[in-house]
Amino acid sequence: MENNSLLNMLLLHPGEYMSGEEISRRLSISRTAVWKQINKLREAGYEFEAVSRKGYRLLHRPARLDTVSIMLGMQTKRFGRNLKLLETTTSTQEEVRRNAEIGAAEGMLVIAEEQTLGRGRQGRSWFSPPGKGVWMSLLLRPDQSLACAPQLTLLTAVAVCRAIRTLTQIDAGIKWPNDLLVNGRKISGILLESVAEDERIRYCIAGIGIDVNMDLEDYPEELRTKVTSLKLEQGAEVDRAALISAILQELETLYDLYQEEGFSPIAHLWEALSVTLNREVTLHSGSQIVQGYAVGLDSSGGLIVQNEEGKKVTVFSGEVQL
Ligand code: BTN
Repeated sequence: MENNSLLNMLLLHPGEYMSGEEISRRLSISRTAVWKQINKLREAGYEFEAVSRKGYRLLHRPARLDTVSIMLGMQTKRFGRNLKLLETTTSTQEEVRRNAEIGAAEGMLVIAEEQTLGRGRQGRSWFSPPGKGVWMSLLLRPDQSLACAPQLTLLTAVAVCRAIRTLTQIDAGIKWPNDLLVNGRKISGILLESVAEDERIRYCIAGIGIDVNMDLEDYPEELRTKVTSLKLEQGAEVDRAALISAILQELETLYDLYQEEGFSPIAHLWEALSVTLNREVTLHSGSQIVQGYAVGLDSSGGLIVQNEEGKKVTVFSGEVQL
């Protein structure tokens, strides 16, 4: 379990006391560290009841995200260290883009409680109501050719999927290239936008949207059969701050691995989490429809599909139907 999931542990056991000793054992941190974390959370508006010989019980949590809870227990060096938390914005992608253009360093993160013009892949809009989701964008400045950008999309999907699996008991899987599904319903989407010059990346903006604490009635009618949230799947709220820091942790670790060893270890991790591979798929890519068996990723992140005649075709963009 991640270091920053003290809150999540208490949230998973609503109304129950957890002793400082148990928390320290489960999180592999000292009793003093537990006490310090509790105090920091109190400063950020969380309320705990502490009863001797019983332990701590969470009484109240602030409805809003706050930087203290996000930073708490986060061990990244660069990602999320420059963090901008907004109540509302059009799209966190735009906010990061503005900062990138005036020289913000890699790792800058913008989180919004609400987006009024959240955008998804292929020109779609992204439903981003206030207070219940994670809507955030991270600035990356890889010194690479534009052709590598799809690999970063897959890397981001792996990071989000791993963080969800670590923090919850939810079996999220990745649909190529970067949708996260639970029981066939979409729980998260990733939008990677790149700005390049002479085919070299100037910067990328990794946008991540996760439906965290939505109830079914929070969604517009037309989405209800297609999407789900972590709360709906787990039956309990998930702490958004803990989720954000777990994602940043995963992202930085995977990004460093990618810089050192290239795409191959990331591709293996992606394949292990994929719900697309080894299945019959139909792909809509522009006006083209590709049908066949998804057999693997190619070295640039494209999906290799084997058609009925046994011929292998690599697809670089499009929508998979499972
Ligand atoms: C998709 O599946 O279509 C991608 C959705 C990406 C949504 C996120 S939310 C944070 C960031 N800001 C946006 O406007 N979009 C991305």
